[in-house]
Amino acid sequence: MKILITGANGMLAKAVRNELKNEDLILTDVSELDITDIDHVRKFVNDVKPKYIINCAAYTAVDKAEEQEELARKVNAVGPRNLAIVANEADATLIHISTDYVFGGEKSVDEDYSEMDEKSPDTVYGITKLEGENAIIESTFKYYIFRTAWLYGDGNNFVRTMINLGKENAEVNVVNDQYGSPTYAEDLAKIIHQAIEKEIPYGIYHATNIGYTTWYDFTKKIYEIAKIDCNVKPVSSEEFKRPAKRPKNSKLSKEKILKTGIKIPTYEDALERYLNKEMR
Ligand SMILES: NC(=O)c1ccc[n+]([C@@H]2O[C@H](COP(=O)([O-])OP(=O)(O)OC[C@H]3O[C@@H](n4cnc5c(N)ncnc54)[C@H](OP(=O)(O)O)[C@@H]3O)[C@@H](O)[C@H]2O)c1
Repeated sequence: MKILITGANGMLAKAVRNELKNEDLILTDVSELDITDIDHVRKFVNDVKPKYIINCAAYTAVDKAEEQEELARKVNAVGPRNLAIVANEADATLIHISTDYVFGGEKSVDEDYSEMDEKSPDTVYGITKLEGENAIIESTFKYYIFRTAWLYGDGNNFVRTMINLGKENAEVNVVNDQYGSPTYAEDLAKIIHQAIEKEIPYGIYHATNIGYTTWYDFTKKIYEIAKIDCNVKPVSSEEFKRPAKRPKNSKLSKEKILKTGIKIPTYEDALERYLNKEMR
């Protein structure tokens, strides 16, 4: 099966490439296919004729986006629109990745977000990712949008950062009032693979590992598994100000995706597997 992957050097893309290695993959980085250029996207897709387009390209620098709105919008909104228009013309299915940031995270942390809950992003990253989702929905019928969160894998990520900090310091401060599901890129790639194999209904799905935690408790779990002796001190978001506001509640309900029969491991299980690989 011919599958075109954009943004092929990104963290998720590396996991997707590995997961789908037995398929006929066409891998493109930004120099080979810039998703913001619709003429090039159209020519490329017409030449290659993929059955699926997996869009792993994105502008993911959440803080920098606050000052680079135009660029963030081009990559996160115009790019997905281009891919959706061209996928529709070529009868290809578009698989796109979105984020918990589309919600804003103001809902009580006792509850989680379902796919159709009201969106109120208040960061440039979240706003432009939501524009990307909407552009896809307006432009084609054959699409999957997988909203994920707290992604880690082969690339710079929270787990790697905390391991390095934990080895160098006796104590680290970690935010204790933001809730979500850490998600291993390999497991998200497996979700995408299962969606293709099972031909689940088109639409938007929440796709993270199972279970919820805070960054603080997650860090304690990382140190426990990695046997790192470092004290973890809980701090509030107010004490840890960043240019872009972090959602307090990033809990994405997996009820809809689990009903399709797709299997998803817990975040604890995923972390064990990641650390075993990372620390070999
Ligand atoms: N990381 C997270 O915690 C997280 C959480 C929720 C959702 N997501 C979503 O998950 C998806 C994958 O994220 P990731 O962490 O794997 O991202 P990533 O590592 O930042 O990779 C994104 C890739 O897109 C490429 N790219 C940028 N502009 C492009 C363009 N115009 N045309 C083609 N490629 C372009 C980048 O290339 P350069 O490096 O050369 O710019 C990079 O290789 C994204 O949609 C992201 O929004 C991520």
